[in-house]
Amino acid sequence: MKLARKHLLGMEGVSRTEIETLLNSAETFKEILDRKIPKVPSLRGLTAVNLFFEPSTRTRLSFELAEKRLSADSVSISPSGSSSEKGESLIDTIHNVEAMKVDFLIVRHSAAGAPHFLASRCDVAVINAGDGCHEHPTQALLDLFTIRQHLPTFEGLKVAILGDIAHSRVARSNIWALRTMGADVTLCAPRTLLPPGIEDLGAKIHPRLDDLIDEMDIIMVLRIQKERQGESFLPSSREYARHFSLTRSRADRMKANSFIMHPGPINRGIEMAPEVADGPRSVILDQVTNGVAVRMAVLYLLAGGETDHALAN
Ligand code: CP
Repeated sequence: MKLARKHLLGMEGVSRTEIETLLNSAETFKEILDRKIPKVPSLRGLTAVNLFFEPSTRTRLSFELAEKRLSADSVSISPSGSSSEKGESLIDTIHNVEAMKVDFLIVRHSAAGAPHFLASRCDVAVINAGDGCHEHPTQALLDLFTIRQHLPTFEGLKVAILGDIAHSRVARSNIWALRTMGADVTLCAPRTLLPPGIEDLGAKIHPRLDDLIDEMDIIMVLRIQKERQGESFLPSSREYARHFSLTRSRADRMKANSFIMHPGPINRGIEMAPEVADGPRSVILDQVTNGVAVRMAVLYLLAGGETDHALAN
């Protein structure tokens, strides 16, 4: 199967067939990553530029590793040390990068819609690595891939997304992707951390974690994004933790075979207890591991690759 799109800007509008194609391809790349030499020549001759205008550990490193594992040439720039510090606009930066004949732009930016803006104005393939509070599509794909490793189907799966929904691009991408795959998504957060109209994306809202905890197959915990909260959204971290933190006693009430996810980085002791993050229900480090295979699949398919041929290359 091929992917009939040039860019990956969000999970909104990505079909079930496309998601399955991406996940199946990631399965193949995961097998490659388990080999003694985890490298294939699939993208030899192609060049990827990773433009991270916001901090990142997991996404940036896993894109860089994915590019290297696929034998693409790969360079990364951040605003510090680039000419954006001298006032160069984003579009001028991109036109200059494009003039050096690159094939992929992987973009993280604080402005929602920045990757869409670039995709409409340049010829290279653009991948959204997180735009403001809008979308983070490769995070949702690696989350789905991790879920699929543990559970046979998305259909009817009960997933709670817990915490700072208002500032979370991970929440938006996961709502789109999980709903497309047939999962039942419930958002649990204080009113101040629920953006108006979020239920229009097809998720339910429930304000009490203690009412949900024993029904959920998955609890996806989100980071409290203090850096995006210009005003006080919470009375205090302690008050937040009392009602919404995934504590050990709450995690102990989860049903058998249910599990806990978090996109990282974690505020330990605020949205989640340290022993829960490191406990037996946590698949947080599996999510990180799977990020490389999923990003390999995204790059490979956007370059025109076919799922059935990945291993033959
Ligand atoms: N999950 C995630 O986007 O992490 P980073 O900010 O470290 O890339």
